[in-house]
Amino acid sequence: MAPYVARSGCAEGDAGRQGCWRRLFVTGAAGFIGSAFVRLVLAEEPDCHVVSFDALSYAGSLDNLRDLDPLRHRFIRGDICDAEAVRAALASGADAVIHFAAESHVDRSIAAADGFVKTNVLGTQVLLDAARQCGVRRFVQISTDEVLGSLADDAPNGFAEDAPYAPNSPYAASKAAAEHLVRAAHRTFGLDTVITRCGNNYGPRQFPEKLIPLVLTNALRDEPIPVYGDGRQIRDWIHVVDHCRAILAVLRHAEPGTTWHIGARNPRRNLEVIEAILRAVGKPTSLIRFVKDRPGHDRRYEIDPSRIESCLGWRPLVSWETGLAETIRWYRDHAAWVERARSGSYRDYYVRQYGTALGTPPPPRIAVATGAARAAVPSR
Ligand SMILES: NC(=O)c1ccc[n+]([C@@H]2O[C@H](COP(=O)([O-])OP(=O)(O)OC[C@H]3O[C@@H](n4cnc5c(N)ncnc54)[C@H](O)[C@@H]3O)[C@@H](O)[C@H]2O)c1
Repeated sequence: MAPYVARSGCAEGDAGRQGCWRRLFVTGAAGFIGSAFVRLVLAEEPDCHVVSFDALSYAGSLDNLRDLDPLRHRFIRGDICDAEAVRAALASGADAVIHFAAESHVDRSIAAADGFVKTNVLGTQVLLDAARQCGVRRFVQISTDEVLGSLADDAPNGFAEDAPYAPNSPYAASKAAAEHLVRAAHRTFGLDTVITRCGNNYGPRQFPEKLIPLVLTNALRDEPIPVYGDGRQIRDWIHVVDHCRAILAVLRHAEPGTTWHIGARNPRRNLEVIEAILRAVGKPTSLIRFVKDRPGHDRRYEIDPSRIESCLGWRPLVSWETGLAETIRWYRDHAAWVERARSGSYRDYYVRQYGTALGTPPPPRIAVATGAARAAVPSR
């Protein structure tokens, strides 16, 4: 990675460190973003070795870590809530922990929050303790814009890093709690920690319960597309590789104890995203089915990435148009991956969530996607 050159206008100590982080311990590495991060590191950082640690929950798959160099990558199946397993895995040495592992789907947290509190809160504390005990030099907490809640419709700018916490779903609350534990480990024990918060990611290997792969995989099979409420919620979209590049920049250069907002300045209404996908795959908007809104559904997420842009010189490299087209191509080309993800427990989840079985053809009536209609695509 090219040496960092500090920009003017950044607080002293915000950036400019050039740490040596060659042995990375990546939790949640078999999931969507974790696997993209591992792939990026191995492709672009020839000196890095990675241990991937993942429980392989419904959202994680070893398919996502296929074809990696076995000399530089090792997979360990384990639960971050299991202190002994985490310590044993860390004992062989790690310079930095990059902590992605989480229960990540808002709808599931509304149906049952206990697993979110266990994994996202308790699991993070277990990792922080183990990191201290095993001499880990840096802990990167991967967090979300959702900890800040919904931005006012008329707010001119996204949330800055010092905006107050206002999590509205059990998922967001569990991620906010995890951030507090990370901060406490830094203040109380001097652990070198950094926190990143990102908006909605898209790209290959995202589990089909999330908005873009749900719309895409249903549309490609001519299945109805459930849309929550009026579908006019705003989310700030970023390609997963741009997010991972930003995490690498923070890992390498951020001052301990700092928090960083990562966003591509790409806010879009859910319906706009859905219609763009339908257009791209040549399917009619009549596949859209507006369903009862998600309880407590946040209207708008948007964060201000000015600080990472000016202090670390990071910029997104993938345009929305290119990223979406490549994502669509990936899902088209990986039918076997999609079928595996859509089988098993996902089918039961889908019936519980939307009241219809996956694969049900749309009824003959044509639904019209208007702002007034009641509409359920998950926003994340
Ligand atoms: N997807 C987004 O748009 C987004 C945006 C901002 C932040 N984030 C954060 O990024 C991280 C990764 O998100 P994602 O979308 O890749 O999630 P994901 O659901 O695709 O992957 C989560 C991974 O964590 C693993 N995992 C779950 N519980 C575990 C446990 N107890 N022990 C070990 N591993 C466990 C799963 O097996 C899976 O591989 C999460 O912390 C999430 O909060 C996601």
